[in-house]
Formats: sequence, C-alpha cells, structure tokens
Amino acid sequence: MDISRLSDKINHTLTTLHYGDNPAELYEPIRYIMALGGKRIRPLLVLLAAEMYDDNVENALLPAAAVEVFHNFTLMHDDIMDRAPLRRGKPTVHEKWNANIAILSGDVMLVRAYQLLLQVEQNKLAKVLELFSKTAAEVCEGQQHDMNFEQREQVSIQEYIRMITLKTAVLLGFSLELGAILQGAPDSDAEHLKLFGNNIGIAFQLRDDLLDVYGDKDKFGKQVGGDILSDKKTFLMLTALEKANQEQLQTIISWRNRTGADTAEEKVKAITKVYDELQIRQQTEQQIDLYFKNAIHHLDAVQVTEERKATLRGLALQLMERDS
Ligand code: IPE
Ligand code: IPE
Ligand code: MG
Ligand code: MG
Ligand code: MG
Repeated sequence: MDISRLSDKINHTLTTLHYGDNPAELYEPIRYIMALGGKRIRPLLVLLAAEMYDDNVENALLPAAAVEVFHNFTLMHDDIMDRAPLRRGKPTVHEKWNANIAILSGDVMLVRAYQLLLQVEQNKLAKVLELFSKTAAEVCEGQQHDMNFEQREQVSIQEYIRMITLKTAVLLGFSLELGAILQGAPDSDAEHLKLFGNNIGIAFQLRDDLLDVYGDKDKFGKQVGGDILSDKKTFLMLTALEKANQEQLQTIISWRNRTGADTAEEKVKAITKVYDELQIRQQTEQQIDLYFKNAIHHLDAVQVTEERKATLRGLALQLMERDS
C-alpha cells in the first residue's frame, strides 16, 4: 500500500478514538492536540514494518494509534518543560489552558496509550507491553537529561547523542520493532528494524535541532529559536562551543541564563550569527547524513525482498530532508 493510503488508515483510526468527556477540562485538550495532526510518522513506521511481513495490517492499527497517542502525551509535557508557546502552528496546551491541565491531560493520554496496546494479540501482549514500558521510561530519562543539560556548561557530543537516543530515537525504533513483532517477523529482522529506527531517530532529532534555528516558523509550526532561548545543549550549540574562538565563546557565554522576553530576539540573533560564522549548519547536515547511512545498513540487513523495503526506504529519505 502506498504511504498516503496508510496515512489515511492511521488518520481514520485516530478519529475513531474516544478519550472521554467529563470533566471537559481533562479531555478537551487531548482532542485539541490530536486534532492538530502533525506528521504522524511513528504510526506510519509501525504500519510500514508490519506490511513487510503481511499485506493485511488491520491488526496493527490500534497499536500504531497507541504510539501516536503516547507521542502526543510526551509533546504536551515537553512543551511545559521547554516553555514552548507554539505546537503545530497553534498555541500549546499549557498556553491555551494552563500547566496543570496539560499535566493531567497528558497523564490520561499515557493511560489511553496503554489501553490501546491491550488490543494486541494475547500471545504477543506481554512482550509488547514490556518493550513499550522500557521505551517509555527511556523517553523520560532522555527528557530529564535534556533538562539537566540546560543547566550544565559542559556536555560532550557523546552525552548529547545518548540523550537524544533516549528522548527521541528509541520511540521510532520501538515503532518499527512493534510492527515487526505484531506480524511475527524473525527476531533478527525486528532487531535490525529497531536499530534502523534508532539511527533514523537520531538523524530526525538532529534535523529538529537544525530546524529550531534555521526553520521557517510557518512550516515548522514551532517557535524558531526556542532551543537557543532555553540554553539547550543541542548539537549546534555543542559544536559551536567546540569550534568557537575566544570572542565567539564570550558571546555565547554572555547570553547564558538570560531568559528575559525583552532580549529574546537579540539573543537568538547573536547566537545564530555565531552558528553562521562557524558553519554549524553544514556540520549538522553531515551528522544527519552519517546517522542516515548507519540506518540504511540496518535496513539492508533485513531479510525481506527489496520490493518490500522500498516504501520505508523512501520515507526515511523524505524524513531526512523534511522542513516541517
Ligand atoms: C517532535 O516530533 C518531537 C521530536 C522528537 C523532534 P515530530 O516532529 O514527529 O512532531 P509531529 O508529531 O510531526 O508534530
Ligand atoms: C522532544 O524534543 C522530544 C520529546 C518530546 C520526548 P524537543 O523538545 O526538541 O521537541 P520539540 O522541538 O519541542 O517538538
Ligand atoms: Mg524538549
Ligand atoms: Mg520541546
Ligand atoms: Mg526541538
């Protein structure tokens, strides 16, 4: 099936979900964030992996929806933590309502994600729940590292890669592994698909960090410069710190911990100027390429025909070049 038909199936499945009604303050934000859409790539990865082993992917639809609901829960909480005003071009839940609402609505989304996963066939359920739980805890670990790093002066590139592996990549890896497991793929294939997803996931977060500085706000749907304002230790920032001369280093350090709204624009401009001078954009693109190539090695190792891999290969390429 082509990607647009699989996307239609996902979108349709998501519209059939009923989260709850009362109290409205708990459930309305869930409908709000889910209706904002997004790329929905994680459920797509579930279905693409599933389709490698079985043309009929109906049994993978609710598990795929579970992953998307979980992802949206992480975004709702992430936006509080990152003080983000915009998500998918619209006000974030904590801005439109408040932080307490975003916390509790997010919590119940996590519960709903588990309930959707309970639909998995009995003989696979324990394994799926175990892997999902491990992944979900890892996402939280990554998120805490991300927050810790805001306050730290020194973070190595290795620590950064570990952090984004946890907060972002493992969920893409799990999505693919889930699709494979649901259709009874051999263990070695499921493992390679997971590792393909992990590497694509690292490249995906590197691209996200890049778009946070160089993206078009309307396409990206998020505040541009948000990572700079929060002193995030992104690949861009860490590379700049590594390559900066004395003057550039002084510029970066002088802006640290300055979060005032009145100087926000100036801060983003000053740091971006240092990035430009150091050609950080090009260096980030190179890293993206590196992880993309790592990913492809794992896809190559999957034991199905090239024809059955083609759609996933195409999607991976699209993701690497995305601007939203
Ligand atoms: C945003 O994920 C969070 C990251 C891991 C970078 P997406 O870029 O998949 O967000 P949506 O779901 O398409 O909005
Ligand atoms: C978020 O990373 C990863 C998770 C939501 C777990 P970011 O904080 O960079 O994601 P965006 O940019 O807000 O989507
Ligand atoms: Mg974040
Ligand atoms: Mg964020
Ligand atoms: Mg980001």
